[in-house]
Amino acid sequence: MEFTIKTAAPEKLRVGVLVVGAFADGTLAAPAQAIDKASEGRLSQLIKRGDLEDKAGSSLMLHDLPGTAAERVLVVSLGKADEFGDKAYRDALSSVAKTLAGCAAKDAAVTLADAAVAKRSLTWRLQQASRLLADGAYRFDAPKANGKDTKKERGVRKVTLVIADKLNAELEAAVNRGHAIAEGMALAKDLGNQPGNVCTPAHLADTAKALGKHFKFDVEVLERADMAKLGMGSLLSVANGSQLPPKLIVMHYKGGKAKAKPVVLVGKGVTFDSGGISLKPGAEMDEMKYDMCGAASVIGTFKAIARMALPINLIGVIPAVENMPSGTATRPGDVVTSMSGLTIEVLNTDAEGRLILCDALTYAERFKPDCVIDIATLTGACVVALGKIPSGLLANDDELAAELLRRGTDSGDRAWQLPLWEEYQELLKSNFADMGNIGGRYGGTITAACFLSRFTKAYKWAHLDIAGTAWLSGDAKGSTGRPVPLLTEFLIGRAEGKAD
Ligand code: BES
Ligand code: MN
Ligand code: ZN
Repeated sequence: MEFTIKTAAPEKLRVGVLVVGAFADGTLAAPAQAIDKASEGRLSQLIKRGDLEDKAGSSLMLHDLPGTAAERVLVVSLGKADEFGDKAYRDALSSVAKTLAGCAAKDAAVTLADAAVAKRSLTWRLQQASRLLADGAYRFDAPKANGKDTKKERGVRKVTLVIADKLNAELEAAVNRGHAIAEGMALAKDLGNQPGNVCTPAHLADTAKALGKHFKFDVEVLERADMAKLGMGSLLSVANGSQLPPKLIVMHYKGGKAKAKPVVLVGKGVTFDSGGISLKPGAEMDEMKYDMCGAASVIGTFKAIARMALPINLIGVIPAVENMPSGTATRPGDVVTSMSGLTIEVLNTDAEGRLILCDALTYAERFKPDCVIDIATLTGACVVALGKIPSGLLANDDELAAELLRRGTDSGDRAWQLPLWEEYQELLKSNFADMGNIGGRYGGTITAACFLSRFTKAYKWAHLDIAGTAWLSGDAKGSTGRPVPLLTEFLIGRAEGKAD
């Protein structure tokens, strides 16, 4: 997708589709007013008849409206004027994105960024607009026998964002940022949607390397022997059952001052989670190809920030393995030694995410991080607790947690904090090692985070459990690209030194 930003009279725009907004009570946003005037009241007439539904995002496609240079006018409802906030604005844009993606037109002009969203700046509105429009155009190129996907040829490629204000560099940067975030999400989605026989640990490593080559940042890949030398017995124990060699991918993006401490992102990269010897039940087991979505979100975030050349230092650490049962797999009851020296009794081989993350988190210490954020499809319990709306957030530092919550709200990619209280720690007791890798039936998201917290004492740390948010099931099955928007927004905030 290509974006331009322009100050223009909407009725004069010679494009395939012109998008204008209207409120539920029939009030037209300024650009819609201009179209109404040019078409001698046709727009308000249609709305008076009740053709446009109240719900934000419902829309009407009008063809050859008199007095308008555009071939089509898409009128989208902004919902009730007094309820017009983040959600209605996003719903309207997501719906527009869907319509544009399936439309025969090749170019569009979108005027929605001019609608005044409560407490949000034009910069914010533009960043959201480009992000949601570009993201809505995402399609996964599935391998199909006939090769040709006719849908692929449809859809708007060029979008002009029309605003009333004068253009300036800040507004252009906002559009560019939104677009970069959508591109980062697209990469994360592609990696997630790829099946486990394609998206292997080596594939994740190759993707990270190719990205580094393109954007000129360093990517190292540690092999099994390197990890063994470092003493990563916990991480390696998960790879024991698989034919695929594990990889530890380390990405170094140096956009900030040489001495500025880096933010470290650690992403769970289990390219398929069968459960291992503690084998999962068969239903929906295919969805465990998404168990590398934490890793994908780290790679996607690197793409977004490299694309916008963000002035920040960022390290990515991705433990990538496949969790399989076999004669060489780790057994329940086996005791392994982590890089930190702490020993772990593997009571359930399906609680493998924490076993690879703990060694990656210990490895992160060497970067003397400003803070570390790990991202993982870690627990089914998180989906039970929070559903598929927010990611779970746990942290050993309340300021860092608050900052992430805030950036989640700003980006529309929200998280919700759960407690990381001392009382939960005792659930990890083991008679045979420093800790067990599971904490019993209750509070599974918290006990998983408690496990990780034992390896993150050297720095400020937050954990995002994305088990519910990284992908959708059913008809909408597919990767969501989350939490690339949240992570990128967080890093933009850091780069700009925003205090709020
Ligand atoms: N990858 C899963 C978590 C998961 C499950 C994510 C379902 C999304 C949907 C993780 O490795 C896992 O299997 N966790 C176990 C932990 C348990 C054995 C303590 C779980 O959640 O059941
Ligand atoms: Mn598992
Ligand atoms: Zn898993």
